[in-house]
Amino acid sequence: MKKPILAGIALALASLLPATAQRVAPAEVQVMIQADKPGPVINPNVYGQFAEHLGHCIYEGIWVGEKSSIPNTKGYRNDVLDALKKLKIPVLRWPGGCFADDYNWRDGIGPRDKRPTRVNAHWGGVPETNEFGTHEFLEFAELLGTKVYISGNVGSGTVREMAEWVEYMTSDTTSSLANERRANGREKPWKIDYFGIGNETWGCGGNMRPEYYADLYRQYATYVNLRTPRDNRPLLVASGHTNATTSWTEVLAGIGSVQAISHHFYTHPTKEWRDKGAALGFAEDQWISTLDYAMRMDSHITDNVRVLDRIDRRGRIALYLDEWGTWYDPEPGRDPGFLYQQNSIRDALVAGLTFHIFHKHATRVQMANIAQMVNVLQAMILTDGPKMLLTPTYHAFEMHIPFQGATSLPADVSTPRYLFGEDNVPAVSASAARGTDGKLYYTLVNLDASKEAVVRTHVSGASVRSASGRVLTAPAIDSHNSFDAPNAVIPAPISGSLVDGAIVLRLPPRSLTVVALQ
Ligand code: AHR
Repeated sequence: MKKPILAGIALALASLLPATAQRVAPAEVQVMIQADKPGPVINPNVYGQFAEHLGHCIYEGIWVGEKSSIPNTKGYRNDVLDALKKLKIPVLRWPGGCFADDYNWRDGIGPRDKRPTRVNAHWGGVPETNEFGTHEFLEFAELLGTKVYISGNVGSGTVREMAEWVEYMTSDTTSSLANERRANGREKPWKIDYFGIGNETWGCGGNMRPEYYADLYRQYATYVNLRTPRDNRPLLVASGHTNATTSWTEVLAGIGSVQAISHHFYTHPTKEWRDKGAALGFAEDQWISTLDYAMRMDSHITDNVRVLDRIDRRGRIALYLDEWGTWYDPEPGRDPGFLYQQNSIRDALVAGLTFHIFHKHATRVQMANIAQMVNVLQAMILTDGPKMLLTPTYHAFEMHIPFQGATSLPADVSTPRYLFGEDNVPAVSASAARGTDGKLYYTLVNLDASKEAVVRTHVSGASVRSASGRVLTAPAIDSHNSFDAPNAVIPAPISGSLVDGAIVLRLPPRSLTVVALQ
């Protein structure tokens, strides 16, 4: 049948309208939370971060140096430090990424004015002054109160270099390496919680085959363990693969001594790496395709966990997602090697959906590190000279603090689908847990670009009367914080109430909500 002309025009106009202007009936969603069926504990480390020597993540983003006019504490900028402290970051990975695969730790110790300048060959070919090195990183982590995860160089570094680095950091003996550390200002050995034996050894970390890397892993791990005191030995992380691949997990799980395998997964709006899509100014097709893409994290984890469950029946090997997040096309006018991108409400929803997936896989997924902390990819913070802003992703992390160390609970969601073009995702995603403070917490994402959702939640095994917390939403699908309007996207209060035995929450379109159930 031919579409009436007027109806066709109305439809075309509707697609041009901002999402808020469209009036549509809300999605009706039901959730069942079983408060008396505790699942695995959500390791706080899944809320971890990653800071690489890349673009303006370290230099300008974290470190400005003691002589800077930007207010700082021993060279770390105060505004960034204060904002990051509020995130209660559990673990921080450094110095890369690909940068780690070309890094010699000796370049970053000793008097700063004597350190060599190298070229950051992976990221823009810019000078790397090595002003920020081992001492600066570990002091930064102490200021933040976070555990540390250092990535060692397998791609271009030797076994001896790696073994000497860990001895330098952890030895309490009078060896010349321990004394060199003392001479450089650090008397006590540091605790290195996690140490990565290489990064992306399938790519920028050496283009290896898994069997070859597996042998190198054993060799490097032997000497890292040999040079660290028994009571101060980091947990070693083997470098796994990316996306849907499971073959590296298969090989690495089979070699016996592996404690954790790292896997990487980045989200982008299109399937085309050379044309990933923009961080801002996108239409609804790229809104939904990005959320759909992000949800592939679930199947990638499921596939790798299946391999682990088969090979490692006792569940001793953890899966770490030590790089994840959105990766868009470079911003016009910026160095493409710096991976600077803006961050919108869409990114906050990607974060929320990903947290739900990590909670679901809490047994094996013991760490995750979003890429990256400041000014790079899906950042928490953007800076511009002395100015700083918190991104929607920052707010997503901050809102989810109660889930760090919480006990996951089953939350069965019955939701309509949200459809646009060729994409089709659940309208609402949810996850629940009992926090370490004993309260029930509940996190919800309304993925729909233009429809509200009315969520009716039944809780069994606990008596609940109301829900209150915060919601993050925004007027448009690419709303973001800018240096002129740094509070355009910030959380606001939300509450629900008891109706016929169910907690009823009305979620705005394109929103992320975290509530405590009382
Ligand atoms: O996070 C940016 C880069 O992505 C990392 O350096 C690398 O490990 C990955 O390919």
